[in-house]
Amino acid sequence: MKLLPYAQQHISTEDVDAVSRALQQPAITRGSLVKEFEKCIADYCGATYAVAFNSGTSALMAAYAAVDAGPFDRVLSTPNTFVATVGAAVQRSATPVFIDTDPATGNMDLEQVTDNLDHPTSRGKTIVAPVHFTGNPVDVAAIEAQIKNPDTLIIEDAAHAIGSLYPNGKKVGCCEHSAITIFSFHPAKTITTGEGGMALTNDPALYHRLCLYRNNGMERDPKKLKGEATPWLYEVVELSGNFNFTELQAALGLSQMKRIDQFILKRQSLLNTYATLLEPLEHVKLLTPANNPAIAPHLCVVSIDFEHLKKNRADVMQRLLDQGITTQVHYIPVYRHPTFVAQMGDLTTYFPKTELYYSQALTLPLYYALEEADVERVVAALKDVL
Ligand SMILES: Cc1ncc(COP(=O)(O)O)c(C=O)c1O
Repeated sequence: MKLLPYAQQHISTEDVDAVSRALQQPAITRGSLVKEFEKCIADYCGATYAVAFNSGTSALMAAYAAVDAGPFDRVLSTPNTFVATVGAAVQRSATPVFIDTDPATGNMDLEQVTDNLDHPTSRGKTIVAPVHFTGNPVDVAAIEAQIKNPDTLIIEDAAHAIGSLYPNGKKVGCCEHSAITIFSFHPAKTITTGEGGMALTNDPALYHRLCLYRNNGMERDPKKLKGEATPWLYEVVELSGNFNFTELQAALGLSQMKRIDQFILKRQSLLNTYATLLEPLEHVKLLTPANNPAIAPHLCVVSIDFEHLKKNRADVMQRLLDQGITTQVHYIPVYRHPTFVAQMGDLTTYFPKTELYYSQALTLPLYYALEEADVERVVAALKDVL
């Protein structure tokens, strides 16, 4: 029986050759391929600057550092995300303000964002951090249009959404309406570099801060040094860590970018098949938008009314796994994790829509090497189990 994971990278012989060639270069980290990959992503998205990081998480940490997120600042974000979206700001002592989830998309409810923007609850900056869940872009222009306070800015977590288009047709990552946008190149994502991430911006000052953060806050620009420039002098202007991206990762990323259109088209086509086959199933709704060329789908999330069907989600997942089909749940709401409960208490009753969404969510397999026949197998198994 062929085992179907819920997500999987696709590595071609060209990818292997590219990484192998990079390994034989004199420099295997922080070299010209990293710069080339940064330019490739910036050009693809229509942004001015891109800085590669060793993960999407470190790109988020850098983004919050670049905008000086700190105590008294608020981060308005979704609980339906990976912990790093919010955690990277909380680590800098910013206050998380969770926004309830739109159960139709899994994205944050924009009406609640507006309410929160209109009623600031702290004296610091407000950072709005939308997540383009499953690749379905939040309308960032609409959020920006609601901002009246100059101390409010947007950092987009586009970990799921490389290749997707906003309603105005521009690519996610262009940063037209945000200070910074980040991507992740984890193996589950549309393109991978093993581990990796990228932060994009159009602001030269933010670009400089992102570069500093990536490598231990080391300033090397002779014009910015306090001391007299010497061949060896660098000055540490802030403490961060080492979040550098290697030439091997950049070589893989550049090679994967040659196939991004192909990756997206295949994911779209598989999702369209899911949409057709799931349509007759009662109490099962596909959340990731299908038949939409503007969306580069990262995950295939369905909403299942387990309660109505009198099924237990864990049993359903196990029975699918018994048939070789791996599923997942995206996401456990961030406020449910013990580290947040310890700080904020039990918030579940404040977020009825997120809780409803969470109780019904299930992620089905979606990746480039999946075949249409595999999708038929998944839907038939789901139908049978339900
Ligand atoms: C929404 C979201 N944000 C941030 C991240 C962090 O990215 P990485 O795994 O590359 O650190 C992920 C990755 O899983 C993610 O899905």
